Amino acid sequence: MEPFFNTKSVHFLQKEKGENQSKARPIYQTSAFVFKDLADMEQYFKGEKDYLYTRYGNPNTDDLGKGVALLECAEDGVATSSGMSAILCAILAFCKTGDHLIATMDVYGGTYALLEKELSLFGIEVSFVHPNENWEASIKSNTKGVFAETISNPLVRVENLEDLIDAAKRHDLLVIVDNTFATPYLLQPYTLGADLVIHSATKYIGGHSDVTAGVIVGRQELVDQARARVIALGSNLSPFEAWLACRGLKTLALRMERQCQNAAELAKTMQETDGVKHVYYPPFVSEKGNGAIVSIELDQKANVERFFSAFTFVKVAPTLAGVETSISYPLNTSHRSVPEEMRKALNIGTHLIRISVGIEDGRNIIAEFQEAVRKSLL
Ligand SMILES: Cc1ncc(COP(=O)(O)O)c(C=O)c1O
Repeated sequence: MEPFFNTKSVHFLQKEKGENQSKARPIYQTSAFVFKDLADMEQYFKGEKDYLYTRYGNPNTDDLGKGVALLECAEDGVATSSGMSAILCAILAFCKTGDHLIATMDVYGGTYALLEKELSLFGIEVSFVHPNENWEASIKSNTKGVFAETISNPLVRVENLEDLIDAAKRHDLLVIVDNTFATPYLLQPYTLGADLVIHSATKYIGGHSDVTAGVIVGRQELVDQARARVIALGSNLSPFEAWLACRGLKTLALRMERQCQNAAELAKTMQETDGVKHVYYPPFVSEKGNGAIVSIELDQKANVERFFSAFTFVKVAPTLAGVETSISYPLNTSHRSVPEEMRKALNIGTHLIRISVGIEDGRNIIAEFQEAVRKSLL
């Protein structure tokens, strides 16, 4: 029988080649590998040996790249130093000076800054399209691809990937999808026809807020190109961080199941709570759940500072996806670099709070938020 997702996510590691078959994967905390002599080293260049120098590849970083590729049902994958470097190297896998990209306007703020400011240093131009607009109208003769997120940050808008990919293929454009919020547990954009899928593995893949990492998976020839950029730009991941992310990956399914369930219950309660003007939570992402990010807009009369100070175990932190529930303020953190008019167009206002729901007992999470809303209204 073919292994199902939960089985694959536990047994994705490559087979240990040495004599000692340790149960847990060792950490290859080394910058290089040694060879008996020059002929032995030459074997690496002939493709007969896997490792030479950690920036080029390492068993732990390969575990992560290939593990996520397995779960995304993609041909291959490469680990990177962060989600940001995953985005950059994925784009540079097929874009060069003079090319043009289209991106949805509601991407993560750091992604917006990378696409808007840094890519122009490479001579790559990006058009941002509001989710309600027809992005096909922005296609130019030099357009090479489209960049989208499966679930947007922070308003958790679910992209219609089937339509987007269909249209992109009609125009001969490549599609890069940031699947950080959905994870392969909920959605596998490669199976829908995306060419490259990236992750900030800092988030759900790592899952414990103790690692900064990224992954690019997709079609073999594009992953090869992305890997060449990772090597040349020095965007490789350290073996220890790759090892931590792999340990996280083994429990991805369990964590997501619980986090999605807690998030759905919290979203429902927040909808019925006085002082909460609007709850952003997707009605449907997949049969397995609707994600674990809930954003709420408090009433104008609520005091946001008091809300943030009201928690006991919920952490105030500019990140998401850890096992602990945390909250962040998109206006001042993830979307700080997004111009004000764009933030207004996207409804990212002064009373918007992004909640990353963890694995605690859902009753405690709900009680913390009800109390925080109550205090914000005092
Ligand atoms: C959707 C999304 N993509 C990419 C990134 C960037 O990831 P990293 O911080 O690992 O570079 C983030 C960070 O918050 C994110 O939320």
